[in-house]
Amino acid sequence: CAPLAALPTGAWAQQKPLVMGFSQVGAESEWRTANSESIKSAAKEAGIELKFSDAQQKQENQIKAIRSFIAQKVDVIAFSPVVESGWEPVLREAKAAKIPVILTDRAVNVKDTSLYVTFIGSDFVEEGRKAGRWLVEKMKNEKGEVNIVELQGTVGSAPAIDRKKGFEEIIKADPKFKIIRSQTGDFTRAKGKEVMEAFLKAEGKKINVLYAHNDDMAIGAIQAIEEAGLKPAKDITIISIDAVKGAFEAMIAGKLNVSVECSPLLGPQLMAAAKDVKAGKPIQKRIVTEEGIFPMEIAAREFPKRKY
Ligand code: AHR
Repeated sequence: CAPLAALPTGAWAQQKPLVMGFSQVGAESEWRTANSESIKSAAKEAGIELKFSDAQQKQENQIKAIRSFIAQKVDVIAFSPVVESGWEPVLREAKAAKIPVILTDRAVNVKDTSLYVTFIGSDFVEEGRKAGRWLVEKMKNEKGEVNIVELQGTVGSAPAIDRKKGFEEIIKADPKFKIIRSQTGDFTRAKGKEVMEAFLKAEGKKINVLYAHNDDMAIGAIQAIEEAGLKPAKDITIISIDAVKGAFEAMIAGKLNVSVECSPLLGPQLMAAAKDVKAGKPIQKRIVTEEGIFPMEIAAREFPKRKY
């Protein structure tokens, strides 16, 4: 291959790898670990130079990271926003610097949608609906009240807002379904356990169902349920979201009833979109991930096929 100095300017420009600044939410869950891994390996595979920054679940850290990417004049900025609101100023700075922004996993709430080029990720409202539909079907012969406790994701985050919305939209059709407690567990196992302990203390055996916005919180809550002398998935029906390996293990052990899939494997789509954007190709404003639902009855069969 020719020495770089001998290459004409155009050829050198073509050889220069695309540089992407990526601001990740944190490392709060098994899902997030798989998501970071997918992004790093896809960047490597695509020959993209990745500047990866972990925000430790803090919006202020993400804003700092984005500003630093702008200062470094990266080719593309991508990020998974911790919360939905408060992004206009920094996104306007990126636009003024002519750096395209790609959203992955979570959406932002901005009036001016030209502040980002595309949003790649799941339909969180639909995930909530899937959880609700599964419950309505499971409890169709139940005559009495069905008391639900809800472990919400991070306050103000798109998945917490949307999964709540989708679930409520389905269960409201039958007044026997009642959400008696709802609190954030911040998408972590530790918080899921802590909040479930508080729910159990306050409501005890009144609780029929736990709806957790992710598997990690459900797994933490399962521990709290067992420590309270109750049988998870039997005394309390448990529904969660993500379908990570930990959830499959819990289902196979008979401790979790169902997990709605939310795929973290967004890396390849993100890298393809970044290349298209850079090449000036037209790109869809919304790229939705395809996902399923896994009840415990099929967990053992599906487990070997799981990639995260
Ligand atoms: O934004 C996706 C959510 O964030 C996942 O469901 C959850 O596990 C993660 O922390």
